[in-house]
Amino acid sequence: MSPSESEAMFPPRPTALVHQILAGLLHEGDWVIDATAGNGHDTHFLAECVGSSGRVLAFDVQPAAIAASRLRIMRAGLAERVEFFQESHTQIERHIPQACVAAVLFNLGYLPGEDHALTTEATDTLAALEAAVRVLKNPGGVISVICYPGHPAGLIEAEAVEAWMAKQATHGWRVAKYGAIHTRRPAPFLLLARNATNYLLARGLTSQTNILGNCFLI
Ligand SMILES: C[S@@+](CC[C@H](N)C(=O)[O-])C[C@H]1O[C@@H](n2cnc3c(N)ncnc32)[C@H](O)[C@@H]1O
Repeated sequence: MSPSESEAMFPPRPTALVHQILAGLLHEGDWVIDATAGNGHDTHFLAECVGSSGRVLAFDVQPAAIAASRLRIMRAGLAERVEFFQESHTQIERHIPQACVAAVLFNLGYLPGEDHALTTEATDTLAALEAAVRVLKNPGGVISVICYPGHPAGLIEAEAVEAWMAKQATHGWRVAKYGAIHTRRPAPFLLLARNATNYLLARGLTSQTNILGNCFLI
């Protein structure tokens, strides 16, 4: 990118900003989830972050999205690190038996160039966020969500996700919001959440971590 192009992109868009932030948090060997694979840009980024010993699980309900993402990953020579599921992100727990995931990414909305009616929906997104909490490392796991409030369905979903994030903040999570202001239409924004304290302790329950790093109630 030329200096004038990068100036034009400053402050960065949420899609770029989340990569900048997560690049400093993810490590070789991490397990991560791309909850909305789309065209595979985020899947590709995550596969580079976790290295050859890490794992990316990528979900999308659309065959076209899975095909596009798979092609991008194969061309990048990263196929060994990525497993694709043509399933809703509400199903992530079927593929992750324990709380071992470093980050779960959601980039909401529809696949550019495809049917705009095939968009993420608030009910499933909230169910998937609850599932994400259960598969994340505790403490330390990160959830990122890019919301698109610029169209009516996206606005309803964005408000529901922001309310869910606010609730997490009252349960010991650190939550932040980033997005452009004073735009013609409501601009996309990024919500980032990290379970800073033990989720179970924050709810008044007692837990212990065993030698494998698994958390269990006592
Ligand atoms: C904005 S696109 C994602 C862009 C993608 N992260 C990228 O880097 O190219 C949103 C995607 O969410 C997918 N989607 C919609 N509902 C879903 C669901 N319940 N589970 C998983 N993916 C879903 C859509 O098919 C679409 O491909």
